[in-house]
Amino acid sequence: MLQTNFSRFLGLSYPIVGAPMAGPGSGRLASVISGAGALGMVGVGSRATRKWVRGQLDAASSMGQRRWGVGVQVWALPDQPGVMDEIEIARPAIVSLSFGDPAPYIDQVHRAGALAASQVNSVADARKAVDAGVDVVVVQGAEAGGHHAGQVATLPLLQGVLEAVEYDDVYVLAGGGIGTGRGLAAVLAAGAQAGWIGTAFLATPEAESPLLAKMAVLSAKETDTIHTRVFDLVGGVGWPERYPGRALSNPFARTWDPREAELAEWAQSADPESAGKLAAVKEELTKATKAEDYHVAVVYAGQAAGLVHDERRAAEVVRSIGDDAERHMRAAAELCVPDERYLG
Ligand SMILES: Cc1cc2nc3c(=O)[nH]c(=O)nc-3n(C[C@H](O)[C@H](O)[C@H](O)COP(=O)(O)O)c2cc1C
Repeated sequence: MLQTNFSRFLGLSYPIVGAPMAGPGSGRLASVISGAGALGMVGVGSRATRKWVRGQLDAASSMGQRRWGVGVQVWALPDQPGVMDEIEIARPAIVSLSFGDPAPYIDQVHRAGALAASQVNSVADARKAVDAGVDVVVVQGAEAGGHHAGQVATLPLLQGVLEAVEYDDVYVLAGGGIGTGRGLAAVLAAGAQAGWIGTAFLATPEAESPLLAKMAVLSAKETDTIHTRVFDLVGGVGWPERYPGRALSNPFARTWDPREAELAEWAQSADPESAGKLAAVKEELTKATKAEDYHVAVVYAGQAAGLVHDERRAAEVVRSIGDDAERHMRAAAELCVPDERYLG
């Protein structure tokens, strides 16, 4: 069995967290991931209401036998009255406060009896999160699916963060690009306490995504993603500029990504002509989303999409990544042989 201080503390069978993912990461997905022995998390999007959050947290806790968590987008919380109160009432094991300053919410998370986590994209961000009082620093590499300020890949960032916080009393987890047991073994061997895994769950039947979006993930290669603000600028989603989203690349993204500055200008302009141009592109995106046309509509996913080859249940994904990681770590331990120079 693979155990770390983090997985032991939470009573998990695997050092795996099912990362919060607004959209696919519903209470149902969280509950099956937790039920399989990892820690499932509910992803709360920027437009989620208190009522929606209550329903999802109920689903996460009612079906799962074990502990579960929830992840919010800090920049959106001021416009989401009651969401943090609902989370406090539900008493999750861990609350991820990402994409903004976690400091104002940490006391409330601790009052709920939960660990406070935050995803970071640089060593400087990790230091800030530790100074703010988080218990769990989640290294989120640039290859991760969804939104982040990531320009540094998981491995160099993990090494830098572990060096920077080695004397602090925090758990360091690693996310971004972990799609198999090999990836989990790599980050555990480097010193992470668990893998924070999102994309590998996107094609599971329990993920709350349209079937054709799952098919797009299944057919994507590791080179088929793009880190872009295009979908947020066109869709009018208020993500701060420093957090583009990693999504599957498609003709729409490839057309508009080089014209991102123009889209941003149209979005900010008071001129009716600019507003008209943006509205036309938005209409195209809205129609395509309804029609599930992923040549235009967005599927947020990371480079690990290239490792998702078939539809498997979420519990099976947990078990295969966890059990394979254990095998790879045992094999790696065999690389350490006695040094013959010191044998009698
Ligand atoms: C579809 C999707 C939606 C996501 N939504 C959120 C979110 O709402 N909140 C959050 O903290 N992270 C979100 N993330 C990021 C994940 O928590 C995590 O960092 C990432 O999935 C890890 O990298 P991987 O996708 O390579 O496994 C999302 C990721 C994906 C793929």
